[in-house]
Amino acid sequence: MKQTIFYFRVFIAVMTLPWWCSAYAEDGGPSISPSSQSVIGTVNAALKSTAIYTARNFSGSVTYVMNPALPLGLSFSSTTGVISGTPTALSSTVSYTVTATDSKKGTASAKINLSVGSGSGSGSGSSSAPNCMAATLDAVGEGRRAYLRLNCYGCHGMTGAGGMGPKIAGEGGDVSEVVNGGGDSMPSFKNYLCPNDAANLTAYVNVQGTAAEPVWLDWWNALPSLKW
Ligand code: HEC
Repeated sequence: MKQTIFYFRVFIAVMTLPWWCSAYAEDGGPSISPSSQSVIGTVNAALKSTAIYTARNFSGSVTYVMNPALPLGLSFSSTTGVISGTPTALSSTVSYTVTATDSKKGTASAKINLSVGSGSGSGSGSSSAPNCMAATLDAVGEGRRAYLRLNCYGCHGMTGAGGMGPKIAGEGGDVSEVVNGGGDSMPSFKNYLCPNDAANLTAYVNVQGTAAEPVWLDWWNALPSLKW
């Protein structure tokens, strides 16, 4: 008889396992989502507002705090966690922490990576161009990145020596016109250009195949020194 009761208890315990698990899972600590966001802004252009946070397992109202301070011109809402405004200063990518706190001191945090790129330069791309990142290399280096990102190499070759398209090495002067749609059979890149792409591509194509061209390592990293 004792044994039967024992097996019965084991049976009940096993059958109710899913309930116990879900009960404990629901009891998890406070959290906010999205847990991470990437934001790329352009100087003097209104930023597309970031997501309003969804707060779970907090008691009472939640207050958001952001660290470190945002680039000039941007503001942060302590009630929704939204970043908005028009950035007026350049910023390379900075990782920000948003911390949510409720009335009972329950807290949770999330990450936001934010950069602000330049909207100036002779390029005529729109400020809403996709995936524009703050420049971290000189014009030639950024031009090389654009050359790869926009697949120029697919038709003109990795060194501009030509392929399906003509040899362009050293002919930077023609870049601005063709990438903006002035070529006969070359596709227009108008809708894909970041603000400085045309200027950077010009600088890069001008040095292609010359002694001034850096030696590239792993896609687009210029070798810091050839002497090692
Ligand atoms: C789909 C193939 C293709 C791609 C991709 C392409 N091009 Fe071209 N490009 C051509 C062809 C074909 C020509 C010659 C006919 C013309 O001008 O349209 C040309 C012409 C040019 C010229 C003028 C050369 C001259 O001697 O007049 C330049 C400069 C140039 N391309 C740069 C670029 C850059 C920079 C990119 C990347 C943003 C790019 N091309 C992407 C096919 C391509």
